[in-house]
Amino acid sequence: MRWWPRSIRWQMLGGLLLLESLSIGLFALLLVQQQRQELNQIARRRLEYEASSLALQTHEAMIEDRPAWIANSVKTVADSPTVEVAKITDPMGKVLFLSRGDASTAVLLPVELTELPVLKQRGAACLTLARNVIECAQAIVKGGDLRGYAWVVRNNSWAHEQLVSLFGDTTIFGIVWIAASALLVVLMSRSIAQPLALLHHGAGELTESFENSGSFPLPVTVNNEIGDLIETFNSMVASLAEQRSGLSDTLSLLDSMLANAPIGLAFLDRGPRFVRVNQVFADLTGVPLSRHLGRTLPELLPQPVAGEIEKAVQRVFMTEEAVHNLELNGEKPLSAASRLGGAWTWLASAYPVRTTPQQVRWVGVIVLDATERKRSEEALRKSEKLAVTGRLAASIAHEINNPLEGVTNLLFLLRNYSDLSEMACNYVSMAENEVHRIAEITQQTLRFYRQSTLPARTTMSELLDSVLSLYQSRMNAMNLRVERDYDPEMDLFCFAGEIRQVFANLVGNSIDATRDGARLLVRVRRSHNWKNPSENGVRIAVADTGAGMPPEVRKRIFEAFFTTKDETGTGLGLWVSYEILMKHRGLVHVRSRTADPGCPGRSPGTVFQIFLPDGPALGNGAGGREQA
Ligand SMILES: Nc1ncnc2c1ncn2[C@@H]1O[C@H](COP(=O)(O)OP(=O)(O)OP(=O)(O)O)[C@@H](O)[C@H]1O
Ligand SMILES: [Mg+2]
Repeated sequence: MRWWPRSIRWQMLGGLLLLESLSIGLFALLLVQQQRQELNQIARRRLEYEASSLALQTHEAMIEDRPAWIANSVKTVADSPTVEVAKITDPMGKVLFLSRGDASTAVLLPVELTELPVLKQRGAACLTLARNVIECAQAIVKGGDLRGYAWVVRNNSWAHEQLVSLFGDTTIFGIVWIAASALLVVLMSRSIAQPLALLHHGAGELTESFENSGSFPLPVTVNNEIGDLIETFNSMVASLAEQRSGLSDTLSLLDSMLANAPIGLAFLDRGPRFVRVNQVFADLTGVPLSRHLGRTLPELLPQPVAGEIEKAVQRVFMTEEAVHNLELNGEKPLSAASRLGGAWTWLASAYPVRTTPQQVRWVGVIVLDATERKRSEEALRKSEKLAVTGRLAASIAHEINNPLEGVTNLLFLLRNYSDLSEMACNYVSMAENEVHRIAEITQQTLRFYRQSTLPARTTMSELLDSVLSLYQSRMNAMNLRVERDYDPEMDLFCFAGEIRQVFANLVGNSIDATRDGARLLVRVRRSHNWKNPSENGVRIAVADTGAGMPPEVRKRIFEAFFTTKDETGTGLGLWVSYEILMKHRGLVHVRSRTADPGCPGRSPGTVFQIFLPDGPALGNGAGGREQA
């Protein structure tokens, strides 16, 4: 209803006006109707009375034979406010006297003429001439003879005036009544509409911004049910504000936990689609945080990882129980920026997130990057194996030494035996040579695994030879040409075992990077620190003509666990080597290039240059750590 007003005040006023107008109008109508009937009856009775009174007076005037009295009576009756016309006719209907106009020319109406027989029979009758025009007639009888009729016509304007006056009074009463009620309604509606408008305004402000709703608490201006409502509303808003502040504290806590937790967190709906993730999770997937929302797992993660997480999430939705420590392994890096090759491992747990005790709304997924942990476990396993193998090799070498000494002595005795032919002497010296070689191998093996706890002067050639001889068989198999360029007498003050470990890794890396027929150069020179020329020491170069490294690999080679060798490498070799070199206050410089198909003349390869200072400072600065 568009036309119906929206405000309570105007609705009440409109309703009241409509209702009261209708009821007063109806009341007036009924009143007028009733009044009209009553007036009709009164008028009829009065007409009958006037007609019989005129007939009586005419009868008397006839007895006295005074026609003037008759004319006078006719006029007097016609002067009555309820009478319009009065007239006297003879029994045949001829008009004898008329209150107004000329009686000689006047004639009875056809209705009146048809009424004459009735009148003659009854003596009196009332008839309707037209709508609301009533006429009463009375027979005039003198000495038993019918002498005529007295006719009286009703004055309608009198009744009309009566009704108009009644209607006017009713209307004035109605207006006064309606005005008084309207005033009452306006006063009453003020006490309802005003506080309600205030409440409406306050609630509107609240909806727009809870924090900036300055109207609260709302003033309680009325002392009725609406006043009570405002008071209840005020206390409701106060408790809501309290709850909100608690809630926002909790939310900020959760937000900061989500943002700063060092683990990947993601929440998924029944889709399952991402509804929220934290930055660490986005870093793990390698997809920007904003691109996760609304996406499914296979859209963002490679298979089979996505499938496994999806299965776990669905299981949590079905069983409503958490799934713990699911190990996920990926083959390919998810983002070139985040990782550069090799396998990675995640540990994932999924748990139900309930919004009500009955309903699991989301599933939270916690993801931990366990790649480094797994690699370090593997590295530890490997190094333990190596250590065991080393100890075994050393003990075998040690055990071989004793019988070897016996064999050497026996060969010496045999050589001095005079009965030996020249041929036999040759065999003995060949056997001596082989035994000597065995002795050398055992000595080197023992030297390699014997760790010194204090720095000492070490002959560099011996150290490097022992490393190279370790790889000799591999190098032979690969047809790798080794160029040794060092002074056999040059020595250095260092932890020999550790420096040997550095070169073993450098040489091992070079062999890994080379193919058949490549070259390996090991060069040692007395030199100066290239950053501080006053410092003396040795410069060692290990150079190969292997595959070389692209810049993005070269940048990361000293990082722990960085490897391009997948299962065969731990990525710890250069990291440990760097630590050892730093302990010796050494320097390292790497140059490397890969083959360029556009430039066939350019050969690939890698050069590691190392500077090791030669001086007693090493013993003071790092000896403690070595012992620990
Ligand atoms: N001479 C080289 N030529 C080409 N690449 C090399 C060379 N030396 C090192 N690298 C690269 O540097 C990476 C790291 O070497 P590092 O010695 O630290 O680990 P690794 O050899 O992979 O494993 P580990 O030494 O533990 O067996 C290697 O995976 C390889 O990609
Ligand atoms: Mg290595």
